[in-house]
Amino acid sequence: MAKSRVQFICQNCGTVHQRWAGKCDACGEWNTLIEEGTAGGIGSGPASLKSARKGRAVALTTLSGDIEDAPRIASGIGELDRATGGGFVRGSALLVGGDPGIGKSTLLTQAAAALANQGHRIVYVSGEEAVAQIRLRAQRLGAASAPVELAAETNVEDILATIADGKRPDLVIIDSIQTLWTDLADSAPGTVTQVRAAAQAMIRYAKSTGAAVVLVGHVTKEGQIAGPRVVEHMVDAVLYFEGEGGHHFRILRTVKNRFGPTDEIGVFEMSDKGLREVANPSELFLGERHAKSPGAAVFAGMEGTRPVLVEIQALVAPSSLGTPRRAVVGWDGARLSMILAVLEAHCGVRFGQHDVYLNVAGGYRISEPAADLAVAAALVSSLTGLALPADCVYFGEISLSGAVRPVAHAQQRLKESEKLGFGSAVLPVGSEEIAGGIGAGAFQPTELADLVTRIAGTRRGRATEDE
Ligand code: TYD
Ligand code: MG
Repeated sequence: MAKSRVQFICQNCGTVHQRWAGKCDACGEWNTLIEEGTAGGIGSGPASLKSARKGRAVALTTLSGDIEDAPRIASGIGELDRATGGGFVRGSALLVGGDPGIGKSTLLTQAAAALANQGHRIVYVSGEEAVAQIRLRAQRLGAASAPVELAAETNVEDILATIADGKRPDLVIIDSIQTLWTDLADSAPGTVTQVRAAAQAMIRYAKSTGAAVVLVGHVTKEGQIAGPRVVEHMVDAVLYFEGEGGHHFRILRTVKNRFGPTDEIGVFEMSDKGLREVANPSELFLGERHAKSPGAAVFAGMEGTRPVLVEIQALVAPSSLGTPRRAVVGWDGARLSMILAVLEAHCGVRFGQHDVYLNVAGGYRISEPAADLAVAAALVSSLTGLALPADCVYFGEISLSGAVRPVAHAQQRLKESEKLGFGSAVLPVGSEEIAGGIGAGAFQPTELADLVTRIAGTRRGRATEDE
């Protein structure tokens, strides 16, 4: 007879282990492995087949068929609709994650009010705040008169019974998933088992009724949705609400979306009357720029379908340490090391005796490799003490051989730069037609060394002028 096997499942990331351990190898969390039998589980072999109940016949259907009109409900808040890919999808579950206090409740209260004013039935369930607190916030947002249906409740069965009453809601907002608990699980509210079971129940509700469900989730210091990363796999879309301390702007970033693009961002500014949309983020990120200081280069980036211009600041200073410091804010540290190595190996620029600090202005975070060229320009500029032209933008990827590689959307990046008053550009030679505008006079190096020579050349030019 086959032995019934025992497995240990990490309650944080869902990884299956054959043996118990104090720490999960996959996600590094401690004390998250829980013993679970496999009898009746999927793929547990013939032994479990005997005990499986007889299946119920499910009606099969065709691909073509009636679907509800307007599968999406758009909030009318442009930046939010952009991030969700055109509005909340009926019958889907969306997870909105973010640090505590970043503005998740504010954003969803504004969305709820906007949708309710359009005539949708919106239910807002808060497990964190009392009704009076939510009303206070709504007053501050000028949304108190919107017909949003409000409840302060944490039990899943009670919530489902409440929303089953009357007309089916178009959107149910659960703030937050960590406060929910269901009668079906024994553990305390906030534990992984509870959160998982509660999320499952809400997702099942969304799929079976066609209502859109939004779950709010807090993020831990490490940047993960607290406890159940499995919730991320269960929902249809995941949005993160991010922002840097001390800055007023907030970015709503799509990290997963079964019904839309995943590279879109929505940009907001937190004001005393709630979140305001920022339709042109470049102006925000370029806001406090000082022309003519060495070590600053403007990067023409893309976020999804939208160009975003940001300033990259580098400081290269003589080091007193045996191993010089490399510190990066808003970019990838490994990528910085790569650029430094390419500059050393192919361009003869030495950083071995220097500390290097790199910062993306405004607390913005770049993930595109296209920023390589702007970073290299900022580094060389800081090292040589020669300021880059203030009206120039940079973009392009750098390969390990020192070649400058083309990137997508060159034309769009140039258009945006031109719109914001930039007069020149440094970009790779690409297949795209970039004629006209600032593309006409652009400098297109094929090797990084060409750009280094050009930046260093400004010193020689200046020296001859002085003579
Ligand atoms: P909140 O939406 O409660 O954050 P979360 O739900 O993500 O925990 O937002 C809290 C912060 O936002 C709080 O520090 C106050 C600030 N805030 C404003 O600056 N302006 C406003 O109009 C509102 C409602 C909040
Ligand atoms: Mg909140």
